[in-house]
Amino acid sequence: MTEFVNYAHRGASAYAPENTFAAFYLGWQMGANGIETDIQCTRDGVPVLFHDSDMKRITGTAARICDLTYDELTAYDVGSYKGEQFRGERVPSLEEFLHHFACKGLQLALEIKQRNIEDAIAPLIRKYCIPEEVVVTSFQWDSLLAFRRKMPEIRTGWLSRNESEELVAAMKSAGIWQYCPNASTWTDGWHQRFREAGFSIRPWGVKDESLMARMLEMGVDGMTVNFPDKLEAARKTCHDAPKL
Ligand code: G3P
Ligand code: CA
Repeated sequence: MTEFVNYAHRGASAYAPENTFAAFYLGWQMGANGIETDIQCTRDGVPVLFHDSDMKRITGTAARICDLTYDELTAYDVGSYKGEQFRGERVPSLEEFLHHFACKGLQLALEIKQRNIEDAIAPLIRKYCIPEEVVVTSFQWDSLLAFRRKMPEIRTGWLSRNESEELVAAMKSAGIWQYCPNASTWTDGWHQRFREAGFSIRPWGVKDESLMARMLEMGVDGMTVNFPDKLEAARKTCHDAPKL
């Protein structure tokens, strides 16, 4: 049986600026045994960790990641939107991130957010990671298949909002390892079906503690959460509860 993975979603992003070293280290410190992050490439082809396609929400300026060079992008402060104490946080590159967090006993969920960046990502995973610690995920089916063709030894996960029998068949035939449903619409019935089909199950969009508790009861293999400390506490409570 594989170990449950508490993935700090964009790091401990409830408490620190998402997708920054401050958030990643805080998540680890809070007991997360995994980190989830988002990958895009800059105009000059450097894979970086950023969720939105532009900088608006985080910095107030509308520049798009794909239009900025790495030097231009890393000049932005992406910390102070979350509090003055985080001023000066910069967008990390994937390479810096792997340098800090690969081979540290953490699971890494790397989400492909842009199309056609598989060629830029694969050599870095090959250089820094052991296959067992990585799952590459996406909401973009074509990106996931392209990545699988490039690195079949790395596990992949499909991020989705819709379940169907066709999807189960397509995932099996594509050799996808993990199914990542939206926690708020995940049902016992689909849980059983995806289990029976042999997939690892790791919900996302776990917005509050009651949804988190429901996912734990269902017996998922992991979750991405903005508050890994609360997930750790809930898991301990579950574990310590007397069996009646
Ligand atoms: O864990 C998957 C989750 O990160 C997908 O949604 O929008 O946060 O990238 P999003
Ligand atoms: Ca993500």
